[in-house]
Amino acid sequence: MPDGHLRVSAAEPRDVDTVLEILDEAATWLQENRIPGLWKPGSFSRQAFVDQISREEVYIGCVDGKAAGTFILQWSDPFFWGDKPPDAGYLHKLAIRPVYQRRGIGLEMLRWAEAKTKAMRKKFLRLDCAAEDRKIRDYYEREGFAYRGDIVEPRGRASLYEKPLG
Ligand SMILES: CC(C)(COP(=O)(O)OP(=O)(O)OC[C@H]1O[C@@H](n2cnc3c(N)ncnc32)[C@H](O)[C@@H]1OP(=O)(O)O)[C@@H](O)C(=O)NCCC(=O)NCCS
Repeated sequence: MPDGHLRVSAAEPRDVDTVLEILDEAATWLQENRIPGLWKPGSFSRQAFVDQISREEVYIGCVDGKAAGTFILQWSDPFFWGDKPPDAGYLHKLAIRPVYQRRGIGLEMLRWAEAKTKAMRKKFLRLDCAAEDRKIRDYYEREGFAYRGDIVEPRGRASLYEKPLG
């Protein structure tokens, strides 16, 4: 459990730099730890986040009022999943600032996204992660996500995961 109280809320337009900072810190941490991944520091598009924030798809998790993590939750994802009925939430860019890691905050945010998706009467939460990263795949599988195949995208191979929200 986190030491402090986690509060998740939709990011506001003024939060865009905080979100990019969290993602850059997480991407740098992945690089420093030689973890195979699809994220590169400095590669996140500010404009894409401005757009996603305006669609209320970006969330920030704060611990004791300080931004600790972020994720994207959207209601369709044709790029990774193709055309599907509107029965799922799609999680992207789940990231915790390295100083806040190892407290279970990421897991708490993942579960928040599941609860929100279920509250929207969706049947599944879906996500993708780096196919070569066995440890992160195990992390999601332990949380009840089932492997649904790989896709090759310009940044590399991604594995698709889906969790039924019974
Ligand atoms: C993945 C993440 C959100 C999980 O947060 P959390 O639930 O609070 O869990 P922790 O940060 O304690 O991480 C759990 C374990 O996974 C490891 N880990 C974290 N991200 C990892 C990754 N991408 N690949 C492999 N291992 C990873 C951590 O080192 C830790 O390992 P340990 O238990 O041996 O110490 C967070 O670690 C993070 O932001 N990672 C970097 C960004 C990332 O990889 N996001 C997922 C994209 S699909």
